[in-house]
Amino acid sequence: MYLMKLFLDTANVEHVAEVAEWGVLDGVTTNPSLVAKEGRDFKETVLAMCDLVPCVSAQVTATDAEGMKKQADEYSKWHKHVAVKVPMTVEGLKTLAYCKKKGIKTNTTLIFSVNQAILAAKAGASIISPFIGRLDDIGQDGMELIAEIMLAWSHYGFDTEVLVASTRHPRHIADAAQLGAHICTVPYDVFQKLPLHTLTDKGLKKFLEDWEKVSG
Ligand code: E4P
Repeated sequence: MYLMKLFLDTANVEHVAEVAEWGVLDGVTTNPSLVAKEGRDFKETVLAMCDLVPCVSAQVTATDAEGMKKQADEYSKWHKHVAVKVPMTVEGLKTLAYCKKKGIKTNTTLIFSVNQAILAAKAGASIISPFIGRLDDIGQDGMELIAEIMLAWSHYGFDTEVLVASTRHPRHIADAAQLGAHICTVPYDVFQKLPLHTLTDKGLKKFLEDWEKVSG
């Protein structure tokens, strides 16, 4: 048993190194948009992160199964910490089944419904990533999707881990843990907010002031 795993949603190696030092980081999720934003070599970025955390998602960019399988074979050889990220499409399902047979770890991205979650899990995904923030953005309740998936999971013996993706604020992380989600991926700016509480700052200030009075 473990407490919900925390991943950093980034392609910034320095940010991963910084948060890894806190002793709470279980992995990283990258995607093509995040990698493009950093402007560094993709393989180099993934390898640097693999040295820091035990699970790094590297997304395929092919859209046909043959191309995806080829990229999955390639990425999985880079490092044992790589999880090949595959989009939730029919071609993606074929790729998941292929990876399952070959023992390649996978993360299925762009999940927006319980049925997509079930299909990806049945095809052999190691991880599925429902995107909650993007559902919130279009006026749906993203966390409701996580509740529905976790309820479905509770009836069966799926090994597939549910990763709460597209988180936007600290409450998302706390809510994901209440629902028993296995993993939550968190952008760097939101991760920075997780250790903070004004009462902690206020309390520490008072302790130090009182100590100062007696210690001179
Ligand atoms: C997850 O793997 C994705 O990289 C990510 O959570 C997407 O989040 P966004 O909706 O903020 O782009």
